[in-house]
Amino acid sequence: MSPRTDAELTTGSHAPAALAMLLAVLFVLAVPWLFIRFSERRAAPAIAPTADARAGERVYQRNCIACHEARGEGRPGKYPPLVGASWLLDDKETPIRIALLGVSGPMDVGGRRYDNLMPNFGVNLTDEALASVLTYARASWGNAGSPITPDDVAKVRASLAGETAVWSGGAALLEAKKTTVLP
Ligand code: HEC
Repeated sequence: MSPRTDAELTTGSHAPAALAMLLAVLFVLAVPWLFIRFSERRAAPAIAPTADARAGERVYQRNCIACHEARGEGRPGKYPPLVGASWLLDDKETPIRIALLGVSGPMDVGGRRYDNLMPNFGVNLTDEALASVLTYARASWGNAGSPITPDDVAKVRASLAGETAVWSGGAALLEAKKTTVLP
């Protein structure tokens, strides 16, 4: 190797080499960035609400929002929250029973006592509508409960054998919990 070749390397080809290096770095950074952008865009439809979830939201807005409020937060002392509520989330039968027949009487929700009236929806709402609204509430505002199917609602409805009286508070619902209808 002669000193001249060294000089050529360090002076003559320096600028293009630096530019090439810069382009290479930008390229290396751009590939993961583009990948992330595209995978985000492709993932979007999967996390966007499905037709079922939108149906559940509509049923909620028409039938439940007046009391349980837009984000399931309820109203202190009057209407219990659906966020984090064990009656809604612990099992599937209990929220179905509540929605079908309504509740009137003392019940504790999130450590607070409520003693008010929730109307029955079993007469006006189909199994599909009830399944979609309960699925929506169980999966919204931070809740992470599993979906409820129209078949689940039909089975619980059948188990009530034409009963129309509202549940008399938490005690009656806990008593009903002893009979399991769903797997
Ligand atoms: C007129 C007001 C009102 C409407 C409308 C209403 N609820 Fe309720 N809901 C209540 C009250 C009040 C209670 C507590 C009952 C009590 O105090 O005995 C309750 C309790 C509940 C509970 C159990 C407690 C909890 O916070 O998890 C669930 C689940 C529930 N409601 C779901 C629904 C769903 C789903 C709808 C719509 C289909 C709905 N409610 C519509 C007033 C209402």
